[in-house]
Amino acid sequence: MVNKKKNNYVSKDNLEKNVSQKEIKFKNKESKDVSNKKEKKEFKEKNTFPKNIILSVKNASYRYSDADVDDYALKDVSFDFEAGKIYAIRGRSGTGKTTLLSLISGLEKCTEGEILFDGKNLKDMNLDKYRNSDIGIVFQSYNLLPFMTASENIILSMDVNGLKIKNKKERAIELMAKVGLKEIYADRKVLRLSGGEQQRVAIARSLSYNPKMIIADEPTGNLDKQIETEILEIFKKLAHEEKKCVIIVTHSGNVCDAVDEVYDLKKV
Ligand SMILES: Nc1ncnc2c1ncn2[C@@H]1O[C@H](COP(=O)(O)OP(=O)(O)OP(=O)(O)O)[C@@H](O)[C@H]1O
Ligand SMILES: [Mg+2]
Repeated sequence: MVNKKKNNYVSKDNLEKNVSQKEIKFKNKESKDVSNKKEKKEFKEKNTFPKNIILSVKNASYRYSDADVDDYALKDVSFDFEAGKIYAIRGRSGTGKTTLLSLISGLEKCTEGEILFDGKNLKDMNLDKYRNSDIGIVFQSYNLLPFMTASENIILSMDVNGLKIKNKKERAIELMAKVGLKEIYADRKVLRLSGGEQQRVAIARSLSYNPKMIIADEPTGNLDKQIETEILEIFKKLAHEEKKCVIIVTHSGNVCDAVDEVYDLKKV
């Protein structure tokens, strides 16, 4: 397993806010004036931006119950994920990408190791609540109900997750606008939407309860490059502007080039 770091994304606002907070702390703690330019520069260089880790996968392994003793779907994987960043998980078929997403989304439990969300071990959490509030999931095949309209699909997710809002349709239309779908699509049946439009609806649906994390299994696998780029822009905005942690499993070089960090999974 190789962990390849790419551009470390830090929003300018956050960086500035953080640095000034640190400067205050530094001043108080050391009673030292860091107001002059040179010292300020040195201070910034010495103090790296602290990691805002939302999800931590620690030495996670997974073995299906009917598998041989040493037949692991995933073996000893450790990755950290930060809020406000977008990640790609890459690897050949069978390297355990979907298995890892099942563990992250709490659908399966690690057989060894642990996964921490906001510092809490998933094993000690109410996983239904976790899935219904903290994490949004997007699939390659969209998984929408084709005979329902776009907005009905989004509202259904709000209902399933027990969301109490007055005007759910209005909220669905707002979410659709966020993913670039005009209001006229709200009442259109899903089976009359293109693949790219369906994936936008699926992303809007995953946002219905405003989760902190979005995970997506090959979300652009069925789409052409142009639409893939547009969908990627939506995910990037969600990470960089709304400070969500976005994790995308992909085979696409285009996706890997666009994200903040790429994590590689290798065959066990
Ligand atoms: N239900 C299951 N029971 C037993 N083994 C399984 C099960 N599901 C997956 N596996 C095995 O676990 C390994 C990892 O599978 P996984 O689906 O996570 O791979 P992947 O990286 O997502 O592959 P792909 O790129 O083809 O989607 C594979 O060897 C697969 O055969
Ligand atoms: Mg898979």
